[in-house]
Amino acid sequence: MEIIKAVIPAAGFGTRFLPYTKSIPKEMLPLLDRPAIQSIVEEGIASGIKNFIMVTNKDKESIINHFDSNPLLETFLREKNQQNLTEDLEKINRAADFTFVRQSEPLGLGHAILKAQHSIGKEHFAIMLPDDILISKIPGLSQLIRVARQEKASIIAVQEVPQECVSSYGIIKIKKQITPNLFKVAEIIEKPKQKDAPSNLAVVGRYVLSNKIFSSLEEIAPYAINELQLTDAITHMLKNNEKVFAFKIQGLRYDIGTPVGWLKATLGMALQSPEYGPYMRRFLADLDSPESFVYNKAKNIHHII
Ligand code: G1P
Repeated sequence: MEIIKAVIPAAGFGTRFLPYTKSIPKEMLPLLDRPAIQSIVEEGIASGIKNFIMVTNKDKESIINHFDSNPLLETFLREKNQQNLTEDLEKINRAADFTFVRQSEPLGLGHAILKAQHSIGKEHFAIMLPDDILISKIPGLSQLIRVARQEKASIIAVQEVPQECVSSYGIIKIKKQITPNLFKVAEIIEKPKQKDAPSNLAVVGRYVLSNKIFSSLEEIAPYAINELQLTDAITHMLKNNEKVFAFKIQGLRYDIGTPVGWLKATLGMALQSPEYGPYMRRFLADLDSPESFVYNKAKNIHHII
């Protein structure tokens, strides 16, 4: 089973991160020295993806430019012998091709995926949600691709979340547990109330799906209220006897769609980085010491309040 195409839906407004996202795509938020979307693409390439289909809108030109060449900058860097500064981007361009399609109306994740249909053939393909950053030894998507090949089926990445958070996710109803990390799925419920959640296994933004998802999306589209949900199309596929598994993906996951999630990702990644880690550790230790003016001042303010 060859899985070499990935759809990255990147047309959202980023409302959880306003006002930053008013004119700058949330996918261009920095994670250390690169935009978050570059980290997603690098995870895809490390998982064997060769074609990326990005679903964007008219305000996301900077994403397209980021993955295009920039002759003026390249000449400038060559003259200064600093080509290494954009080396990682050149590696990406040698390893993968990009197709950009537009979703002109915000009609939901399922609607965005349908926009990529013409670029996908009969094969299984991946979906990578760029708000979800996965840090793991084995790249997140490649963990899923391995299981998809093994089971010859659609696989969805899940992680356990605290009960009070289930209403922020698609939640899996388990049909059967196969191994400690692999489950046959009965149904997925998008953002259920805590009392209605069938488990605490939440979908975390990586999927390998059969191309049958497109006919399911088309069939349910006329009944969608406001947004066309990918989750509902997966449940529709299940009703048509498609095999869908959930795999507990290994690794740390950050939701960078909110300022707190992005701060956690930035700090967590900086602390693990050989380049930035030592500086950040020293900075945090200083911040936590009695000599730290900023810290003490913040503490005093806290006491006064
Ligand atoms: C989307 C999916 C949801 C999934 C989540 C993971 O929701 O619809 O099923 O659990 O991503 O991040 P969103 O967060 O885009 O509303």
